Amino acid sequence: MEGPRHILITGGSSGIGEALALAYAQGGIRLSLSGRDRERLAAVAERCRARGAEVESALLDVADAAAMAEWLALADKIRPLDLVIANAGVALPSGMLQERDTRVRLTLAVNLMGVVNTVEPAIQLMAPRRRGQIAIMSSLAGFRGMPSAGAYSASKAAVKAYGEALRGELAPLGIEVNVICPGFVKSRITDANKFPMPLLMESERAAAIIRRGLARNKARIAFPFRLYAAVWLLAALPPALTDRWLARLPRKE
Ligand SMILES: NC(=O)c1ccc[n+]([C@@H]2O[C@H](COP(=O)([O-])OP(=O)(O)OC[C@H]3O[C@@H](n4cnc5c(N)ncnc54)[C@H](OP(=O)(O)O)[C@@H]3O)[C@@H](O)[C@H]2O)c1
Repeated sequence: MEGPRHILITGGSSGIGEALALAYAQGGIRLSLSGRDRERLAAVAERCRARGAEVESALLDVADAAAMAEWLALADKIRPLDLVIANAGVALPSGMLQERDTRVRLTLAVNLMGVVNTVEPAIQLMAPRRRGQIAIMSSLAGFRGMPSAGAYSASKAAVKAYGEALRGELAPLGIEVNVICPGFVKSRITDANKFPMPLLMESERAAAIIRRGLARNKARIAFPFRLYAAVWLLAALPPALTDRWLARLPRKE
């Protein structure tokens, strides 16, 4: 099967999104990238252009539903979107009591509604032509509520279930849906962690695994395998056995 020629990536200005943009960048490929940081986004766009890709970049907040729908529609008009990767996300520390409410809401606005604001317009555009692929960035932290990152974990569990459901729902419309669940990947999110991160991997390696999984239309692209197996077991065990151990895991400061 021919690979995607127009790929839209939210959060393309850094980390995994940046590595994915660079992995796909080559002659004949169009990339539509979004982020909020002008300089970071421009730098990634330039590196992708240097690899021969046509690049359009948009400074956009994924939480802005109207702006996201407008951007996807414009991008699709220039060249029909083949692959949309809803990647943008934040991982904020829970904070003190007075900061909690704001941080939980912001996490859900970006990591959950930001994904909805990317995916729903993509469905509208792809369904009439009965073709397209949508990838949703969840996390291994979405397999079980983690006391160390409650809102983050909740947002990733929600998009995981949303993506798994959409895969079955949209298959008759010819749209492929994939859920990506990485472990620890080097990025600005993990750079802020002061605790040891098992099996931490480079973003380039993560991008290669994701790209291969998407080409094979894997339902779930979860890695690295050993950490995936550990969280899978953790989620299967009764909370009475795991709660005390999980409560001791280090948190973001
Ligand atoms: N790194 C890991 O270990 C890991 C593991 C599992 C899942 N993930 C997920 O992977 C995704 C990418 O994260 P990363 O690790 O690559 O972190 P990162 O380096 O901080 O990248 C996050 C990207 O999301 C963008 N972004 C954040 N909030 C946004 C908003 N409101 N509107 C638009 N763009 C926004 C950022 O853009 P600006 O910087 O320009 O604002 C940046 O491009 C996230 O969904 C994260 O939860 C990461």
